[in-house]
Amino acid sequence: MKQQSTIYFATVVHCTGDPWASGTSAVEVLKDGYLKVTNGLVDSVGAESDLTADELQHCTQVDHRGYTITPGFIDGHLHYPQTSVIASYGTQLLEWLEKYTFPAEAKFSDEAHAKVVAEFFIKELLRNGTTTGFVFATVHRQSVDAIFNAAKNVNMRLGSGKVMMDRNCPENLCDTAATGYEESQELIDKWHGKDRLMYVVTPRFAPTSTEAQLEFSGKLFNDNDGVYLQSHVAENKAEMQWVAELFPWSRSYLDVYDRYGLLGQRAVYGHCIYLDDGDLKRMSDTGTVAAFCPTSNLFLGSGLFDIVSARDHNVRTVMASDVGGGTSFSMLRTADEAYKVTQMAGNTITPAQLFYELTLGGAQALSIDNMVGDFVPGKEADFVVHDLHATEVLSQRVEHAVTIEEELFALIILGDDRCTVATYLMGEKVYPR
Ligand code: GUN
Ligand code: ZN
Repeated sequence: MKQQSTIYFATVVHCTGDPWASGTSAVEVLKDGYLKVTNGLVDSVGAESDLTADELQHCTQVDHRGYTITPGFIDGHLHYPQTSVIASYGTQLLEWLEKYTFPAEAKFSDEAHAKVVAEFFIKELLRNGTTTGFVFATVHRQSVDAIFNAAKNVNMRLGSGKVMMDRNCPENLCDTAATGYEESQELIDKWHGKDRLMYVVTPRFAPTSTEAQLEFSGKLFNDNDGVYLQSHVAENKAEMQWVAELFPWSRSYLDVYDRYGLLGQRAVYGHCIYLDDGDLKRMSDTGTVAAFCPTSNLFLGSGLFDIVSARDHNVRTVMASDVGGGTSFSMLRTADEAYKVTQMAGNTITPAQLFYELTLGGAQALSIDNMVGDFVPGKEADFVVHDLHATEVLSQRVEHAVTIEEELFALIILGDDRCTVATYLMGEKVYPR
């Protein structure tokens, strides 16, 4: 195959290690740098001055000087059918589900509606520099087809799956243990591992699944090589109480999932606010991933997740918007709220740690760091070009920054989709500002 190489000139920033372990030195900053992409994969990064005359002569050159290139952001937990539910007023989790979310999700029985929303949703991710998401669909199998097709059209790395619910939900959103299993298996066979797509077994949360359905979820998760599992746990106090009543034998909410083999390195749980020490130990021992959803936890009044404490317990973490309980598609807005929530817990998360959580750390938590998350040669070239002068306030703050850490922090606290100049997937520009 003919080599197609492109060199992008910019300040290039990515993680080469884990700032939770090694501090700021885990973030590599190449001022007057370049990113070279060959056939959709990272070829090299470095200083402009390292480029050879031969490279300069034979590669396509793209000038993003004055801007900053980072790996694409990773959103570990969100719901595309809740795009229209964002900013729905006045309720907490269980009432919010009944009043806003279930009616919105019922509309996804209509394939044409699912397609329109899925395409809007993918565009919105790309506008915000998000290049990978783990996305809930609805109970309808056509909702899964719609989101995978929309991701496939732009060659995006994305996880999704059919929501399974066989009790405590409206009749038009209810499957059964048997149909939930059969339809999920069909969708796994159809989509998992095709292009850049990953199937995620998706029991919504323990209250809407019978024990038979949780058992089938474990079978799907454990019998299909490489598939993931996603759900919700320990988000809201009334939900905790409900789970204790529905599963009186359980030691804790997490213990319900544990009983059915639903923990593990490829299992991702939204929220994880009310886990006790025993639960944190099980999360850590099994490698189960906690998705930190700060904008949603605040908006729905659910509670404060303490990421520093979770990390101290060796729990794997990923940052997540949780749209539409969450209030922004932007992982910058999400990281901003994560910083503030961590402050409320009396802890501090550093700019380098925040940046890592959005990129390499998220990729490691989702076990896709062999493919994305940084600019190691051979990785898939998913990257974002940021404008740190996109707004007046951000621009003047960056002017006063002394270190790149300060600049990154200003981007996180003050930035949003206005800062995205361009988003690239496998070296193809899929969003231009
Ligand atoms: N728990 C069960 N379903 C949901 C959902 O759609 N959003 C949130 N935030 N929590 C849930
Ligand atoms: Zn969620």
